[in-house]
Amino acid sequence: MLPPKAFTIPAHGAAMPAIGFGTMLLPQRPVELVAHAIKSGYRLIDTARKYGTEERVGEGIRASGIARNELWVTTKVTEENAREADFLKSAETSLKTLGLDYVDLLLVHWPQPNVPLKETLGALAKAKRSGLTRYIGVSNYTLAMLEEAVRVCPEPLITNQLEYHAYLPQDRMLAALRGYGMILTAYCPVARGQLLDDPVIKDVAKAHGKTAAQVCLRWLIQQPMVSAVPRALEEAHIEENLDVFDFTLSDDEMKKISALRSKRVRIADPPERAPKWDVEPV
Ligand SMILES: NC(=O)c1ccc[n+]([C@@H]2O[C@H](COP(=O)([O-])OP(=O)(O)OC[C@H]3O[C@@H](n4cnc5c(N)ncnc54)[C@H](OP(=O)(O)O)[C@@H]3O)[C@@H](O)[C@H]2O)c1
Repeated sequence: MLPPKAFTIPAHGAAMPAIGFGTMLLPQRPVELVAHAIKSGYRLIDTARKYGTEERVGEGIRASGIARNELWVTTKVTEENAREADFLKSAETSLKTLGLDYVDLLLVHWPQPNVPLKETLGALAKAKRSGLTRYIGVSNYTLAMLEEAVRVCPEPLITNQLEYHAYLPQDRMLAALRGYGMILTAYCPVARGQLLDDPVIKDVAKAHGKTAAQVCLRWLIQQPMVSAVPRALEEAHIEENLDVFDFTLSDDEMKKISALRSKRVRIADPPERAPKWDVEPV
């Protein structure tokens, strides 16, 4: 049974926690931080082969003392492993490194233009059918890729994990995902700290007696079919990022924060693997 703090979002039979703990760039005490996050109430841990954190995430899970079936673990296969055989080998290596029998969600981490999408998505579905993962999804897919992925994948996709925060519009993507019954998992949800000094965010935070980070996260998860995976090294930040279920932003506050989108700040844009992003209207 998931604890009350782990509010979940339904998608194709899954119940995905609305807030997860991101583990990219966790150089300090990752085992302790993951265990601390779980003990604080997080039930979703987001990792990837590319982050090099899978082993320590596994150790953190075991150190937390929380039963495996109460947790949701997401990992990802890199674009270098988009061919079917490589893809399945990578998923198996992830499980071995994590020390787990299965993950809850396996994602294609970035698109691979040199491999037909059908082959990669077919391998992803195979990973699900062979029990390596309970659910599957994609990450950093554009609208056109998402449409093709949904069409060719023999199993339902539950999410597209993307950069999403108040400084980056994702309206058309969100509408498309909702149409497919899928969740938008927001990464860089506090824009790596850039949003935390914004005067609009700070004003709203003051009005609710909350922090700027909590307002950024609340703004995300208050939108239907949106979850978020913030990362933090400070234990106090880890705890406060989950404490976002006891207040509600008004329609006016939601609109004011949404209006910040005209800044169009994109943080994760690695030239060697990023697709040509959709230009969303502001
Ligand atoms: N699928 C993909 O391609 C992809 C790409 C990027 C990220 N991700 C996932 O998304 C996760 C989060 O993204 P991110 O780490 O890039 O960005 P982020 O969560 O927006 O920002 C992390 C930064 O914000 C600070 N922060 C977080 N909560 C705070 C709080 N309550 N108060 C003050 N500062 C706070 C952290 O500070 P402290 O460390 O000092 O606490 C850290 O410097 C990653 O860890 C990863 O799991 C996925």
